Amino acid sequence: MTTTTQSDLQEFTEGFRNEHRAGRDTFLAIGQALRVRDTARIGELMGQANTLIGPHMQYEEEVMYPELAVLFGDEYVQRMLADHDRAFVVASTLMEIASKPEITDADIDAGNSAIQHLLPHVTDCDGLVLAVEVLPADAQQRIFAARHRAFEEGTTMMEWGARRGR
Ligand SMILES: [Fe+2]
Repeated sequence: MTTTTQSDLQEFTEGFRNEHRAGRDTFLAIGQALRVRDTARIGELMGQANTLIGPHMQYEEEVMYPELAVLFGDEYVQRMLADHDRAFVVASTLMEIASKPEITDADIDAGNSAIQHLLPHVTDCDGLVLAVEVLPADAQQRIFAARHRAFEEGTTMMEWGARRGR
């Protein structure tokens, strides 16, 4: 019988939270760079987000969200996937702004409102740990393994999006 040890669960909980924390900080820093019109910094931070978010999205979409459908239903999974779809729209909005020769006040507003729409997904997603905790051990193990695999592979967000036809 598969069992999940306390330390497996703790490793996941901490890792998962740190991924969201890093996502949150990156988006907040992009907002800040936008306000000071530092396009080079935005580009740098977007590169960071691309590396960071790719594996996270991959294991959530491939394994974790589908496993959570047992608790939350299929519609919930669709909603989480739609949030990820929106993250690609936000990323392209930010990239477009970063590539402009000059950032206008309207660009700053547009970029920050895009970030504002994305942030709740990042923090809401972290609460899913409470759901993962009550899944059967074999489902938990599939999630943990998918997470390790995704970080080993290191697919970027843009590569992942292309694979999903986004
Ligand atoms: Fe997440």
